[in-house]
Amino acid sequence: MKFRVLVSLFVSALFFVSANAQEMTDDDIAQRIKPSGNVHIAGAAPAVAAGPRTGEQIYNGACVACHAAGVLGAPKSQVAAEWQPRLDEKGFDQVWKNAIDGINAMPAMGACGDCSDDDIKTAINYMIEGI
Ligand code: HEC
Repeated sequence: MKFRVLVSLFVSALFFVSANAQEMTDDDIAQRIKPSGNVHIAGAAPAVAAGPRTGEQIYNGACVACHAAGVLGAPKSQVAAEWQPRLDEKGFDQVWKNAIDGINAMPAMGACGDCSDDDIKTAINYMIEGI
């Protein structure tokens, strides 16, 4: 008796699962089996997995090592006295360009392998925020 109850439970569970599977539309299936990443074409803007990063995230990932303590003479983050003369003398766009190309001990792109030019701009804006 007990065995028959188990078997019928098992059969109705199977039925439930297969009925459920049939509710999936072609779209659902396409959604499930589509590749999880997009193809990155060489030379295109880097593929960023989780949307654009904030200036703080980029800074903490790539710039903090030098720009927090002023390593090698790097202008310290959020210290107006270190940034203002550069901004006055060169203007923001030139300072941004220098960060992209590298200047003296400042490595090109801050040595950030997955940063776009705009990421560099966003990180600079974070470092000079409120200045
Ligand atoms: C290896 C250390 C190092 C790292 C990492 C680094 N910097 Fe620099 N950065 C420097 C130094 C040193 C200077 C000063 C260069 C000079 O003017 O002689 C500098 C200067 C700059 C300047 C001013 C350029 C100018 O024209 O005055 C900007 C903007 C800048 N860095 C942005 C960044 C950003 C954004 C990152 C992170 C993506 C970064 N840096 C990562 C060392 C670094």
